Amino acid sequence: MSASIEVRGLSRTFHTTVRRPGFTGTLRSLVNPERVAKHAVSDITFDVSPGELLALLGPNGAGKSTTIKMLTGILTPTAGEARVAGVVPYLERERNARNIGAVFGQRTQLWWDLPVRESFSILRDIYEVPKAEHASRLKEFDDILDLSSFWDTRVRHLSLGQRVRCDLAAALLHDPPVVFLDEPTIGMDVVVKEQVREFLRHQVEQRGRTVLLTTHDMTEVERLAERVVLINHGRLVLDGSLDEIRRTFGSTWQVRATLADAHTDVVPPPGIAVLRQDGPQVVFGPDGPDAPTVHQALKAVIERYEVTGIAIDEADLEDVMRAAYVQAGAA
Ligand SMILES: Nc1ncnc2c1ncn2[C@@H]1O[C@H](COP(=O)(O)OP(=O)(O)OP(=O)(O)O)[C@@H](O)[C@H]1O
Ligand SMILES: [Mg+2]
Repeated sequence: MSASIEVRGLSRTFHTTVRRPGFTGTLRSLVNPERVAKHAVSDITFDVSPGELLALLGPNGAGKSTTIKMLTGILTPTAGEARVAGVVPYLERERNARNIGAVFGQRTQLWWDLPVRESFSILRDIYEVPKAEHASRLKEFDDILDLSSFWDTRVRHLSLGQRVRCDLAAALLHDPPVVFLDEPTIGMDVVVKEQVREFLRHQVEQRGRTVLLTTHDMTEVERLAERVVLINHGRLVLDGSLDEIRRTFGSTWQVRATLADAHTDVVPPPGIAVLRQDGPQVVFGPDGPDAPTVHQALKAVIERYEVTGIAIDEADLEDVMRAAYVQAGAA
C-alpha cells in the first residue's frame, strides 16, 4: 500500500497588507496598500506510511499548523500537492473529512454550549456511526482517557486538559485511518499527558492509525515518534529518525573515562576529541560534523583503551532540538 500521507512540493504563501504608521501612513495604506508575501510553507515533501506516527517539529512560526491545515483541507496550497488516504484534501474536503480526525489543541471542534456527550451524539449522526459501534468506541476511549467523569458537562465549563481529551475522542469517533494532532497535549498536567500518550500509542499500535502530530514537548516526541520531520521558516530541514537528528545536531555528548594506564598523550579515535584530561581521567567529546554517536564513541573508547571506569552524558532531546533550531535558523 502506498503512503497514507503524501506531500509533494507543498507551499503556501500568505499575502497581507502592512499598515504604515501614523495618520498619513494610514491614508497612504488605504490609497496604495503595501502588499507583503509571507512564505509560510515552501516546497515541502515527505510521506507518512500507514500505521506510522510522525512528529512534525519546528520552532514557533515554522509552518507546522499551516501544513496541517492544508492536509485537513482547511487551506489550499499555493503550489505543490498533497494526498491523504488517496484523497486531495483541499479539492474534496468532505471526502477527506471522513478519512481523517483532527485535533487543534488551541481551539475546540466541539459545540461550546452543549454537554460533551451531546457533541459526541451529533458527530455520530454526521458520520452515520452505528449506535453499538459508537458506544463501544466511547467505552474504549473512556477506559484510557477517563472522560465519563465530565462528559455531561458543557464544553465551555471544561478545563483545558479535559476539553482536549474530549476533542481527541471526538476526532476518532468515526474511526478515521489518518489523524492530525496539532499540539494535542497543550496545557495538560503530567499525569494527563501520559494518559494521552498511552491513548495515542494504543491508537497507532492496536488500531493501526496513521498519525501526524506537532508538539513542543520533546518528552512526547521521544515516547511516541520514531521519525520526525523538522521544518523551519517553512522549509524542510530534516526528515529522519530520532537517532539521525541526534547524530546531526546532538553534538553535545561526553564520555568520561578513567584509563587504567595514565597516558600523557591520549590520541583519540577518529571523530572524537579529548575535551579535558586530568591524569587518568579523560573526557572525550565529538569532533567535527562526522562525529560518532555517543554509543559508537563509547565502544571506540573501550576498544582503544583499557578503562577502569566509564560514564556518558548524553545531550537530552531538548538540547538536541535547541541546537537543530539554532542551526536551521542560521542556514
Ligand atoms: N492566515 C495567515 N495570514 C498571514 N500569515 C499567516 C497566516 N497563517 C499563518 N501565517 C504565518 O505563517 C507562518 C507559519 O505559521 P504557522 O501557524 O504554520 O506556524 P507553526 O509552526 O504552527 O507555529 P507554532 O509552533 O507557533 O504553532 C507564521 O509566520 C505566521 O505568522
Ligand atoms: Mg502551530
